[in-house]
Amino acid sequence: MECPQVFYFWVLMFVSQLWVYGCFGCFEKERSSLLELKFSINHPNGNSLPSWRAGTDCCSWEGVRCNFSTGRVILLELPQSRDRMLGDWYLNASLLSPFEELKSLYLNNNLLSGFLDEEGLCRLNNLQWLVLSYNEFEGTIPSCLGNLKNLLHLDLSYNRFCETKYQPWNTTFQLEVLDLSNCKLNKSVGGIINFLYSQHDLIEVYLSHNHFLGKFPTWLLENNTGLQFLDLRNNSLWGNFHLPLYGNNTALLELDISNNHISGQLSSDIGTLLPNLYSLNMSSNFFQGSIPPSVGNMTNLCALDLSNNQLAGAIPEQLVVGCVEMLVLGLSNNNLHGRLFSTFFNLTKLKFLYVGQNNLVGTIPPSFFNASALTVLDIEDNHISGRIPSQIGDLSGLSVLILRGNNFSGMVPFEFCKLEKLNFLDLSYNSLSGPIPSCSSFKYLEYMHLAKNAFSEPIPNELLGSSSMKLLNIRDNDIVGVLPTWIGSLTELRILILKGNHLHWHIPVELCQLKNLSILDLSYNNLSGSLPSCINNLTFGGSIWEHNDGKLLSPVSTFSVGIGLTGVDFVTKSIMNSYEGGPLKYMSGIDFSCNHLIGEIPLEMGLLSELHSLNLSHNQFTGPIPVTFQNLSQIESLDLSYNKLNRTIPSELTELKRLAVFSVAHNNLSGRTPDMKYQFSTFTESSYEGNPLLCGAPVNKSCISTANTIPSPEQEEEDDNDDGLVSFFASFVGSYFVFLFGTILVLYFISQRRAVCFFHVVDSWCAFHLYKLFKL
Ligand SMILES: *[C@@H]1O[C@H](CO)[C@@H](O)[C@H](O)[C@H]1NC(C)=O
Ligand SMILES: *[C@@H]1O[C@H](CO)[C@@H](O)[C@H](O)[C@H]1NC(C)=O
Ligand SMILES: *[C@@H]1O[C@H](CO)[C@@H](O)[C@H](O)[C@H]1NC(C)=O
Ligand SMILES: *[C@@H]1O[C@H](CO)[C@@H](O)[C@H](O)[C@H]1NC(C)=O
Ligand SMILES: *[C@@H]1O[C@H](CO)[C@@H](O)[C@H](O)[C@H]1NC(C)=O
Ligand SMILES: *[C@@H]1O[C@H](CO)[C@@H](O)[C@H](O)[C@H]1NC(C)=O
Ligand SMILES: *[C@@H]1O[C@H](CO)[C@@H](O)[C@H](O)[C@H]1NC(C)=O
Ligand SMILES: *[C@@H]1O[C@H](CO)[C@@H](O)[C@H](O)[C@H]1NC(C)=O
Ligand SMILES: *[C@@H]1O[C@H](CO)[C@@H](O)[C@H](O)[C@H]1NC(C)=O
Ligand SMILES: *[C@@H]1O[C@H](CO)[C@@H](O)[C@H](O)[C@H]1NC(C)=O
Ligand SMILES: *[C@@H]1O[C@H](CO)[C@@H](O)[C@H](O)[C@H]1NC(C)=O
Repeated sequence: MECPQVFYFWVLMFVSQLWVYGCFGCFEKERSSLLELKFSINHPNGNSLPSWRAGTDCCSWEGVRCNFSTGRVILLELPQSRDRMLGDWYLNASLLSPFEELKSLYLNNNLLSGFLDEEGLCRLNNLQWLVLSYNEFEGTIPSCLGNLKNLLHLDLSYNRFCETKYQPWNTTFQLEVLDLSNCKLNKSVGGIINFLYSQHDLIEVYLSHNHFLGKFPTWLLENNTGLQFLDLRNNSLWGNFHLPLYGNNTALLELDISNNHISGQLSSDIGTLLPNLYSLNMSSNFFQGSIPPSVGNMTNLCALDLSNNQLAGAIPEQLVVGCVEMLVLGLSNNNLHGRLFSTFFNLTKLKFLYVGQNNLVGTIPPSFFNASALTVLDIEDNHISGRIPSQIGDLSGLSVLILRGNNFSGMVPFEFCKLEKLNFLDLSYNSLSGPIPSCSSFKYLEYMHLAKNAFSEPIPNELLGSSSMKLLNIRDNDIVGVLPTWIGSLTELRILILKGNHLHWHIPVELCQLKNLSILDLSYNNLSGSLPSCINNLTFGGSIWEHNDGKLLSPVSTFSVGIGLTGVDFVTKSIMNSYEGGPLKYMSGIDFSCNHLIGEIPLEMGLLSELHSLNLSHNQFTGPIPVTFQNLSQIESLDLSYNKLNRTIPSELTELKRLAVFSVAHNNLSGRTPDMKYQFSTFTESSYEGNPLLCGAPVNKSCISTANTIPSPEQEEEDDNDDGLVSFFASFVGSYFVFLFGTILVLYFISQRRAVCFFHVVDSWCAFHLYKLFKL
């Protein structure tokens, strides 16, 4: 019995050695190629793929998988392996040629640059999956890819191929998934369709974000009954959109042709021809006519986006009854007429509804509130009227509510307070009255647009509950009372606009706690008292904004279907601008104009070095313009007009190199105007008018005696009396004769008739100086 045991022992030893050897020997040729590949990925000094070490089993390296029986590499999955700091990666694809059994190659997101090298790549006959997306390949897509007969999945998206050799691709391979999105392809779409047409096995085709030109390739759908996903969005397709006459594509699940130039009507049988669609995006084209009732047959439809077209007619009731799976419905920016919904609203799963910018009329029907899953409701810019129904409180998941630009009237119902998830509320441009809607339950509210209504009563304390508030705009309402001191607790506020109300009393010092404020507009109120000197606690910088530009004003949502990009109106450079997204990020300004503010302008105001716009006009500020204003280095618009400011204008203001609009008109300023240099050379007399004691260009009054120095107000007065008179007279006589003599010389050469004219000019010049002389 000894023998067999020894035998088994040796067999075991042999097998295990073979196993170890086989492992280590994961094909020497492939291992050394992998090590070269690692060297290339890391060139010149990266340190990716640390597990790839000589003398170890390459089949166990990260991103490598081998065939168990042959030991050959079948998968290389190396996305994002090159350190971005190393810059572009030029790969010699012949490094790949030893991998004869390779089935899947993923080199996406690796800064691969230059031309896609045909040599190595096209020899990989067994390749089924090739993913080279998010690289920087240029030039043509190699036609030899057509020789890869086993290829099922080809993803070259997000590269820079500018032209494609389509024809050589006309070989029949089994391609199921083709992704050429965002490749800067610009050939007529016909070319690629020639190729696609020969591919009967295609299931997914993604060609978005290219420059394809031509008519919509109807025939792609025609006999290709296996196609499930077709994405042609953001190209230059034009012409009518016809659905195929043959085949009913029961397979098609997702069709996106948004952002092209496609026109014509929607086929009346679209719903019967594409019955299984779950996503249809035709937004941003030129579709006309009405929405065919047959859409109601698409009972699986989860997302329908027809926004930004020229569709007219009513919203068909079949749509809101039949498409019971609908999650997103985008119909905004069309010409839709009729009532908001004419019938029972059966879309109980609907989360996002955008029907803004149409011509819808009537009231909000009670059936609306069956859509209890709604998180975004946007019906802006229609003609919806009546009260906001109390049932709105049933939409308890609502996060974005945009009723802007309709004819809603009456008070906002108490039930509004049930909308505890509310984050973005826009009721502006309606005729709503009563107190502004504010509930202690609005814990998540960040954006509140209430401008241009008839809201009255004081600012309610409940607002304090919305401690995340970033934007509060109550412009042009009838709010009374004082600016509450608790406003200082809303420390996240970035934009506070209370313009055009009846607020009285002082600006509270607590306002200085709003450290993130970048736009503060309290103009056209009845505010009195002096400005708090703590104002420099605020930075008024643009930099404090989030990276996500649009987010501040646009509702947070996964789908950007015609979202209410509600801008903020703010006057700067005397122009009312609507700021939104990016530009708003850089805007910062204070507008206290048209109040009854008194006292001196605090020196600290000059420390707001990030401020872009300051308007203190139409108040009763006294004292000097603070010399600290020279530090307002970002200021572009500065309006101090219509106050009672006196003394001289600090000459240092000429250092404000960004100043584009400047006014100190209608004050009691005196002395010399700032030098006509830099930005100040562009300001005209209107910037200074209504200050009788100002002199120097561009004011039509010279500062005679004060050639080089800036006089103090006292000096100025002396100058005006004696010395001034003598020097003025001397200069007057001197220049009069020089001018007259010169004129006579000229007249010597010209006709009698013109001479009259010249004497006239001389006379008026003279009269003007004499007038000034007499005035002295
Ligand atoms: C790529 O490598 C192969 C083999 O090492 C070599 O023959 C060829 O010249 C290389 N190509 C380039 C463009 O460097
Ligand atoms: C397509 O792109 C290539 C490379 O940028 C350019 O040379 C060619 O003129 C373009 N063709 C058209 C029709 O725009
Ligand atoms: C459309 O595609 C171009 C590239 O062709 C891209 O730059 C642009 O951002 C895309 N636009 C949209 C709205 O996706
Ligand atoms: C699709 O098939 C029909 C019927 O077989 C045929 O008549 C038609 O020409 C085909 N379409 C295209 C674009 O070839
Ligand atoms: C549509 O497709 C279904 C399923 O493949 C088939 O039963 C039906 O006959 C087709 N209808 C038409 C009009 O082609
Ligand atoms: C609403 O949808 C259901 C299916 O969920 C359907 O049975 C019902 O008929 C629809 N309501 C109306 C009024 O059509
Ligand atoms: C919709 O609301 C009506 C009454 O407003 C109610 O009768 C109906 O049952 C509701 N339907 C659903 C699906 O909630
Ligand atoms: C101001 O903004 C910054 C940056 O968005 C944020 O971190 C901070 O919490 C905000 N609030 C205050 C009071 O600074
Ligand atoms: C402004 O406030 C003062 C008191 O501060 C009051 O006398 C005056 O009537 C108010 N004016 C307006 C237009 O509200
Ligand atoms: C439809 O396409 C547009 C533009 O390509 C896109 O912005 C929008 O989010 C899409 N709509 C849906 C519901 O996905
Ligand atoms: C300052 O405010 C007044 C009154 O609101 C306005 O008329 C003027 O245009 C504003 N000035 C600037 C420079 O924006």
